[in-house]
Amino acid sequence: MARGHKTPRWLEAARRRGGEAPSPDGRADWLSRALGRAGVLPRADAEVAIREGRVELDGRVEREPFAPVHTGSQVKVDGRVRELSLATRVLMFHKPSGPVVHGSDPEGVGTVFERLRAVLPEVLLGYEWLAVGRLDRDTTGLLLFTNDERVVRHGTAPKTHLTKRYVARVAGRPGEVALQRLRDGLALEDGPTRPAGATLRAPDVVELTLTEGRHHQVKRMLAAVGHPVRELHRESVGGVALDVVEGAWRELRAEEVQEGLGFRSE
Ligand code: URA
Repeated sequence: MARGHKTPRWLEAARRRGGEAPSPDGRADWLSRALGRAGVLPRADAEVAIREGRVELDGRVEREPFAPVHTGSQVKVDGRVRELSLATRVLMFHKPSGPVVHGSDPEGVGTVFERLRAVLPEVLLGYEWLAVGRLDRDTTGLLLFTNDERVVRHGTAPKTHLTKRYVARVAGRPGEVALQRLRDGLALEDGPTRPAGATLRAPDVVELTLTEGRHHQVKRMLAAVGHPVRELHRESVGGVALDVVEGAWRELRAEEVQEGLGFRSE
């Protein structure tokens, strides 16, 4: 079977049981993911606990991490009843230059997930934190994390058009012609860019506000107008502006998630 058509493991597990399949868009879920979202155990730890027979689902030991869970499922971990909370949480993190926004780290430079976990309090370590989009390894600034994959989809979907404000120190001195090309939109190899905000903050510092988030987009746009990026920093996403020091984090308030990011859970 072609790779792209493989049946997802959660669906296979649901079918084997003859039960109702969890909906990837609804709040029904599979066990290890539900534990990570609810802040009980991050997903990899949850899989280990499940395989070790430490997790009970509706009164029976469950050894399948992809077992479907439903609203009202009763879960115990190590004999303790755990709530499968659906509350959406979003954190801002001030990414330093260096770590990658990837789960895997073949070069051993460290990941933002490790950096975040190193500064989170115990009560937040049970969550599986998902990054909302990517920043390059050498980019600093605002990176959002969430326990809710719907926030990831909302924040990264091309149609959302959430603004992202970057500040780039560039080579050379961009003139009005270059800035206007950035504003109007220019041709990149993966298509034209949407109109953007572009102003100078200093002779070699450009503030660029995008409503899309393609791979290396800021670097590619500035290179296309003849001013390669030397340093890149993200200041804000939607109405949420970075306000913690490098390496630090804070949780967003519900109104920041709703008004600032435009995300509503239902
Ligand atoms: N655009 C880039 O080129 N790099 C980033 O990290 C973010 C946006």
